[in-house]
Amino acid sequence: MSPAQAPLLTIEHLTMRFGGLLAIDDLSFKAHRGDVTALIGPNGAGKTTVFNCITGFYKPTAGRMALAHSVTTTPQDVEALTDSGHRWDETNGGLYLLERMPDYEITAKARVARTFQNIRLFTGMTVLENLIVAQHNALMRASGWTFLGLLSAPSFKRAEAEATERARFWLDRIKLTHRADDAAGDLPYGDQRRLEIARAMCTSPVLLCLDEPAAGLNPRESHELNTLMRTIRDDHATAILLIEHDMSVVMEISDHVVVLEHGAKISDGTPAFVKNDPNVIAAYLGVEETEEEAAEAEIERIAAEAATKGGSTNGSGSRGTP
Ligand SMILES: Nc1ncnc2c1ncn2[C@@H]1O[C@H](COP(=O)(O)OP(=O)(O)O)[C@@H](O)[C@H]1O
Ligand SMILES: [Mg+2]
Repeated sequence: MSPAQAPLLTIEHLTMRFGGLLAIDDLSFKAHRGDVTALIGPNGAGKTTVFNCITGFYKPTAGRMALAHSVTTTPQDVEALTDSGHRWDETNGGLYLLERMPDYEITAKARVARTFQNIRLFTGMTVLENLIVAQHNALMRASGWTFLGLLSAPSFKRAEAEATERARFWLDRIKLTHRADDAAGDLPYGDQRRLEIARAMCTSPVLLCLDEPAAGLNPRESHELNTLMRTIRDDHATAILLIEHDMSVVMEISDHVVVLEHGAKISDGTPAFVKNDPNVIAAYLGVEETEEEAAEAEIERIAAEAATKGGSTNGSGSRGTP
């Protein structure tokens, strides 16, 4: 990524409090065009909360999230928009301050799409219908928001044809064309995951946020998912922000990794840098050591219990010790 190009997403001092809980603590990072940026960290680190802020589900307590459609956007442009009090400026390709925008504007205008930690498809609709319904906004705009427009306007007919075309394109990309007319809920889990991503892609996002898409997938499904993510990154003008637990997936697919712990950033760099960063090693080993210590203490406790019982009941009920 050329440093002269504006980052797609610049997050600065993002902070989110839930009552007394500080879920995100002064977080700053950038996501670049053409990159898969991975957001990793232990459970409860605040990863999903970051997504909820970016997509407008939560209004952050503090911080700025600037999304620039144009590579020529400058830091001065971001400052000027911030000072203007407006939510966006579309005079130069589109610059959006996500923290000021409601979720539907973030989807429709800033063009940020997401999937959820738990799959949310319309399970009773067909596979194809799920992909067309995702484009509802564009279709309604083309109808001029009137019923007559829906039925007769040439612009609507054109938009409808384009929506079907785009749905068919993504159906082909996820290799589910043969299941177009089946209920989405009847698909195997891995196919539902990829359908959910295809549905998000039908809105032509500039940023796609995927929350643990590989969770629960078998190795074959996981491989298909990686292929799909690479296709999106390489063939389309969509950057990916990925929350992922599986370190092998992170190391294989991401261009850039941001590590969170207790809501704060502890590392930021290439996969190779992050993997060898003492901060990250300490954080991850720290968890393991604590767990190991807890397990050892538990074994000792059981052993001591067994020894006491063994002494008082002539060994009956003893669990035995190694
Ligand atoms: N709506 C909410 N209300 C209160 N606490 C929340 C809410 N959402 C998340 N949290 C808390 O914020 C912290 C970070 O959660 P989350 O972002 O889901 O972590 P991760 O996705 O990294 O596992 C957790 O302590 C969680 O309980
Ligand atoms: Mg989460």
